[in-house]
Amino acid sequence: MVISRTVNGQLSPSSNQPFIPNGTSFPNLGGASQTYSTSGGGINQTGLFFQSLGTNGRSCGSCHQPSDGMSVSALNVSLRFIQSQGLDPIFRTVDGSNCDHNIDVSTLAGRYSAYSLLRTRGLIRIALAVPANADYAVTAVNNPYACNETNVISQYRRPLPATNLPFLTTVMWDGRESSPLTGTTKILFANYPTSLQSDLAHQSLDATITHAQGDGTRPTPAEQQEIVNFEMALFTAQSFGLLTGPLNSAGGNGGPLPLPTMPFFVSINSSIHALLPNGPEQPGGLVTPGDGQFTSNIFNLYNAWSALPSYDFRASVARGQTIFNTRPITITGVAGINDDVSQGGLVSGGIASLTGTCGTCHDTPNVGNHSFPTPLNIGTGDPSATNPSVNMGQLDISYLPQITVCQLINGQPSDNCKTTSDLGQALIDGQFAHVGKIKGPILRGLSARAPYFHNGSAQTLLDVVHFYENRFGLVLSPQDELDLFNFLSVL
Ligand code: HEC
Ligand code: HEC
Repeated sequence: MVISRTVNGQLSPSSNQPFIPNGTSFPNLGGASQTYSTSGGGINQTGLFFQSLGTNGRSCGSCHQPSDGMSVSALNVSLRFIQSQGLDPIFRTVDGSNCDHNIDVSTLAGRYSAYSLLRTRGLIRIALAVPANADYAVTAVNNPYACNETNVISQYRRPLPATNLPFLTTVMWDGRESSPLTGTTKILFANYPTSLQSDLAHQSLDATITHAQGDGTRPTPAEQQEIVNFEMALFTAQSFGLLTGPLNSAGGNGGPLPLPTMPFFVSINSSIHALLPNGPEQPGGLVTPGDGQFTSNIFNLYNAWSALPSYDFRASVARGQTIFNTRPITITGVAGINDDVSQGGLVSGGIASLTGTCGTCHDTPNVGNHSFPTPLNIGTGDPSATNPSVNMGQLDISYLPQITVCQLINGQPSDNCKTTSDLGQALIDGQFAHVGKIKGPILRGLSARAPYFHNGSAQTLLDVVHFYENRFGLVLSPQDELDLFNFLSVL
């Protein structure tokens, strides 16, 4: 198999064409993924999404590639670096390099060093100003790459997949494209999908201005609509497992084809709302559809495989699905649940310790993001979030900045401080209580887009599993770990 450089910097042989028909498989370390379009029979790689609309040669497709589940894997980025000698448009100093101060990208060695986080972790530098009315002060920024400003914070984030978007209840890791604070709209049952579509249109303009150094004139409103229509038609999932074969064999329901008709509405299976006395979302205490109807059985794609003999890898996937759906997890210390479950509005108060499952936070049926906007801090950016009694699963975030923020009391920094690698929602709304809160992403097409978590701190899905064991005291046997890994690999 010859891997050749192709349109839009993609490296997969199947992407070497201006039109990718539905059903095209893109190999990855877990098997293969497919991205299916409900419009036009496939992906037209000459469309606006793949055109340069700014000034630095980048398109949306530079960071959202069909071969990579509409994100980019670090492996793909590394290969692009080698093939282009670090000149592919993804390698731009505006936000592709670790920092943009005093760097020399005139030589290959200089570029290799400048783009190390993008090459090894697939990270883009997102620089965000601290809100003027923040109730905290940034007292120290310890950035290994010299972006040490305390008024504009450099955060390092993975490109979220520009696919399966109809299931979104939050746009961007920190929700900044679905928040009234940025002139966008919070996505609620009552305004979906209009809110989502206008948020995505706004996002496409912001993305062009920031990542592609655009002048703000493009995409025009009509072009924004075209980009949104293109993205909203895409559905991605793993379609073939390395050890299991086609994911629709023997009654399996994997692959992207079932996704466009999956039932969905905002709060369809909201676990958080079920904890509250009244649906907080609608005035008058009206219960939102889905409230109180939570089932932890989030995924049923591989139910049929539980009948297969235990030596069949597909039976392992079915066991992993059962672990995801039913294994109890003690949720403590999670901002957004244990301190305050009222992100929706009217009810406040937290639940100190909650026995949940993976689905408490990944509750959208067969998709796995949160079915209601629910920013959470599970500790992926917390340098001290380690459990010394568990000798693994501690995320290495030493390549990231450490940012210390202290709550303001009477206008002065108090000694109530937190250190984190990413301020999350607090950088949008200025609230100390929201430090480190980010959204749980959609869990489909994972194998196409390693590494994982917003900061790329889990290199593999096994690292993700180990993290949950460490952070939440989840007890898994080696076989359980493998089963859960096999399951996550074929989503
Ligand atoms: C330089 C890389 C890069 C380019 C170019 C780029 N993006 Fe992104 N995209 C990202 C990153 C990184 C994020 C996550 C950032 C965050 O949440 O702070 C993201 C997030 C998104 C999301 C949010 C998905 C979700 O689950 O919330 C959408 C949609 C998206 N991009 C679409 C686009 C479109 C449309 C374009 C072109 C106009 C584009 N992107 C260009 C890197 C890029
Ligand atoms: C307390 C809430 C919570 C629980 C419980 C939880 N998750 Fe998560 N999950 C999140 C959040 C929030 C993120 C995003 C974290 C980040 O990116 O830093 C996430 C991210 C992930 C990711 C990475 C996705 C990506 O695109 O990078 C995977 C995979 C995942 N979770 C699987 C699981 C599994 C498996 C379980 C059960 C063992 C589980 N989660 C339990 C909240 C939770």
